[in-house]
Amino acid sequence: MKRREFLETSAAAMFGAILSTYANANGVVAKKRIAMVGTGVRGMNFWGVAVLERFGEHVDFVGLCDINPGRVEYAKQVMKVSCPTFTDFDKMMAAVKPEIVLVMTTDSEHDKQIVRALEMGADVITEKPMTTDEVKCRSILAAEKKTGRKVHVAFNYRFSPYFTRLKQLLSENRIGKVTSVDFNWFLNVYHGASYFRRWHGLKAKGGSLWVHKATHHFDLMNWWLDSDPVQVTAYGALEHYGKNGKVRGASCRSCDHKSSCKFFWDITKDAGAMKLYVDHEKHDGYIRDGCVFSPAIDIYDKMSAQVIYANGVTLNYSLTTYSPYEGHRLTFNGFDGKIDTWQGIPYQRGTFDKIDQAARHALEMEQGNEAADGFEEIILHKNFEPNPESIRVPRYRGGHGGGDIRMHRKMFQNEPATEPFRHSAGTRDGAMSILIGIAARKSIDEKRTVRIEELTDIKPMAKRPVA
Ligand SMILES: NC(=O)c1ccc[n+]([C@@H]2O[C@H](COP(=O)([O-])OP(=O)(O)OC[C@H]3O[C@@H](n4cnc5c(N)ncnc54)[C@H](O)[C@@H]3O)[C@@H](O)[C@H]2O)c1
Repeated sequence: MKRREFLETSAAAMFGAILSTYANANGVVAKKRIAMVGTGVRGMNFWGVAVLERFGEHVDFVGLCDINPGRVEYAKQVMKVSCPTFTDFDKMMAAVKPEIVLVMTTDSEHDKQIVRALEMGADVITEKPMTTDEVKCRSILAAEKKTGRKVHVAFNYRFSPYFTRLKQLLSENRIGKVTSVDFNWFLNVYHGASYFRRWHGLKAKGGSLWVHKATHHFDLMNWWLDSDPVQVTAYGALEHYGKNGKVRGASCRSCDHKSSCKFFWDITKDAGAMKLYVDHEKHDGYIRDGCVFSPAIDIYDKMSAQVIYANGVTLNYSLTTYSPYEGHRLTFNGFDGKIDTWQGIPYQRGTFDKIDQAARHALEMEQGNEAADGFEEIILHKNFEPNPESIRVPRYRGGHGGGDIRMHRKMFQNEPATEPFRHSAGTRDGAMSILIGIAARKSIDEKRTVRIEELTDIKPMAKRPVA
């Protein structure tokens, strides 16, 4: 076996050993002892209910923790588990001694629980983004190194069949040396606006959409290109939401402008959100249906960046937050041709695809909807060839393009056992994706190009290291 193959196989095996079940000397399969911190919508539903439904025979929830005492009790009830609940993370760790901690809190809190979990002897699965600034990032990297324990970053989008097919085409070198990429992501006026009514609207909580949202896109790009970012030059502004609104209220529920505001969202009609958030407002004051025109909002709603990679590729990236439809366009330009891709563009095939834009994100978050529904295309056009090739990939609308279930299978039953495309991500990948967004923020604030090496001691490499 060649050295590279060996390393890839051992990385996959190590990953499986951490997260899958294993038999003891008597052939008895032990359940993994799992604790969760952050029992909000993603924690409770995707990492709680869905994991128990799919892999209940492999996992045992031994503790749940949230700073909101009402929400953690509610999550316990919805997850139908009998483990103890906590509002203090260290107390939970000391009491239940989990093997794995699921970190599902607000983005800016991840570092605290990741570092403590490692120090107290557990491995970690954390939601993206790994954290929100370079200081916190350095402390996670140092804790992992010091403790010898492992952190896995849950980059679900990598696992979607569409993005995996793209990775395969690029790995096969089908358009020769890739030199530049154009990547534009559009958030619609429903899902895009929702970031401005939640904690995500504050840089201090989510690190801005450069980190909270774009971490997905930058991780995909690093993975597709198999190279590290070197420098970032960015622009951004807050021109539409926040202080720019003409009228505002404390929450949609209590607002005087319900009948005229296009961004009015009636949380009282959403039974799930009422039970998860409104019923527990009294404990922490968190308003889930905040105003998209709150003057406290300090993130950007328009973002663009140029990123130079260590292998010479130039990435032109933009993120829009008030589009009529949600989707993206992505083009890879190579010496021998180009690959064009898109998702969610309603008129792309010549006929208007009537997707309910208000419901689109709920559909994307939905679990259990695992059947393919039609197909999506990737167009590969070689230079000097008249006809492009249309590559059809089954379309999965639920669970982040089918990425959620595939990531879960990898984590909880090590399926598939071998990973030619190395879907699983650790702290280096988690760091490299957020560092682009952190550098972009810095670039806007300081009006200069920011080098990735300024932020941590990770050295950008033309070809990413295997482990
Ligand atoms: N990968 C994806 O596609 C995806 C989708 C949605 C959310 N997420 C991520 O999941 C995480 C949770 O997001 P959410 O939408 O569930 O948010 P949420 O607001 O519903 O839940 C966050 C929970 O964390 C709790 N919390 C905050 N600080 C805490 C602390 N110090 N200790 C304990 N609990 C604390 C809050 O009380 C809340 O219950 C975020 O990191 C988010 O970026 C990822």
